[in-house]
Amino acid sequence: MKGKDSFINNKIDFESPNKNIVPLTTKINNGKLFIGGCSVEQLVRNYDSPLYILDELTLRNSCKAYKNALNKYYEGDSLPIYASKANSSLFMSNLISSEGFGLDAVSEGELLTALKGGVPYEKIVFHGNNKSDKELEFAVANKIKVVVDNNYDLERMINFSEYLDRKIKIMIRFTPGIECHTHEYIRTGSFDSKFGFGLENLTYVFEEINKFKNLDLVGLHAHIGSQIFELEPHRDLGKILVNFAIDAQKYGHRIQELNVGGGLGIKYTNEDDPPSIEDWVKTISESVTEECKKNNFQLPLLMCEPGRSIVSTSGVTIYKIGSFKEIPGLKTYISVDGGMSDNPRPITYQSNYSACLVKDPLNKNQINKYTIAGKHCESGDVLFKEIEIGSCQTGDLLCVFGTGAYNLSMSSNYNRIPRPAALLVSNGNAELIQKRETSEDLLKYDVLPDRFIKQS
Ligand code: LLP
Repeated sequence: MKGKDSFINNKIDFESPNKNIVPLTTKINNGKLFIGGCSVEQLVRNYDSPLYILDELTLRNSCKAYKNALNKYYEGDSLPIYASKANSSLFMSNLISSEGFGLDAVSEGELLTALKGGVPYEKIVFHGNNKSDKELEFAVANKIKVVVDNNYDLERMINFSEYLDRKIKIMIRFTPGIECHTHEYIRTGSFDSKFGFGLENLTYVFEEINKFKNLDLVGLHAHIGSQIFELEPHRDLGKILVNFAIDAQKYGHRIQELNVGGGLGIKYTNEDDPPSIEDWVKTISESVTEECKKNNFQLPLLMCEPGRSIVSTSGVTIYKIGSFKEIPGLKTYISVDGGMSDNPRPITYQSNYSACLVKDPLNKNQINKYTIAGKHCESGDVLFKEIEIGSCQTGDLLCVFGTGAYNLSMSSNYNRIPRPAALLVSNGNAELIQKRETSEDLLKYDVLPDRFIKQS
């Protein structure tokens, strides 16, 4: 087979990073891969592999695309909120905050990371279908807005507001009953979802909150799923949210904030064609605005919670190729030095990615079909069932694109494999944003009871 056209040559869309497979700064110099002005080969020489890399320009352009579109299409006030589950770190909290974003957290760990990273408490929202008492206390003590997901949350928030004898602002999350086309594990808006109040309970919830003078229902939230390419479900969601805000008014609540969740998909492979950030924001802004105007309802603060479309395209993972196994007439396995512990998405959702060789990004060499396996003791630890890349050998580097979201944040230490380091690249500089774990680190929480004999 001859070298075939590579996705690396796709035209780059600087306005909407989620429409590209590669980070905006991806370049080929002397036939080799550069990101953020840095030679990927050199980065691995300095920081070892596997290696997560985030490109600052792509991250910032993604944030700006949301901000600009909200300013352009929504007449009322707006606040984009980064869904930190996509990639939570001090660095990410700090960067999104510097771009004027708020942040959504779902655990005390994410809340703490946001606060320490510099996100102002009034721009943080706290989600979750089973918040612990300790987590709720932490959120309330730090004046963070809680999104009440169920009766258990509601009871505890009532208790807090009575006990503290101060007004507490809350939002409630409901399940809007909207279907969308995405993997069933990441679909959250349908009636059978574990998240949020069912529509049939909303009247009860509105009445219940009314009984407590210190509980102030200021907003409604819904999130329909993730990696969505259709605009229609979000158009419907905008209308549904406004109509529930109008209903809430009948019970004496003044809803001033509507949060439409996240969900915009990204381009992982050439087969994917997500809408642009601008079109997504335009759709939601128009639907909320039309419905408000039709019903003479004051435009609320519009919030949205993108995660994947902020951080995924900015991220790549670099692996070193190790062993080869050829099964004649069937396939050739290449094994890399990471896998399901740093990227559990292929084994969890059968997700597809794009990749290239760092030494031959354009597939100029004779290309072959390979199966790329991870190093974990599990047959399903396969990153690519079949990929066409140039001839390669042990020691060559493979770059997998689109790994900025839900890779590091879902990583594990399966097989006691330490997590990779993470770097930020920009203008030819690389900065460490997460240290590489060591095998010693992994022993940190092991305890050998005294009656067992310690081996030296
Ligand atoms: N808001 C809420 C309440 C959410 O539950 C989520 C994602 C988001 C916002 C952000 O959605 P995004 O813009 O990233 O689509 N681990 C899965 C994705 C799970 C998404 C969970 N919730 C994956 O790797 O595909």
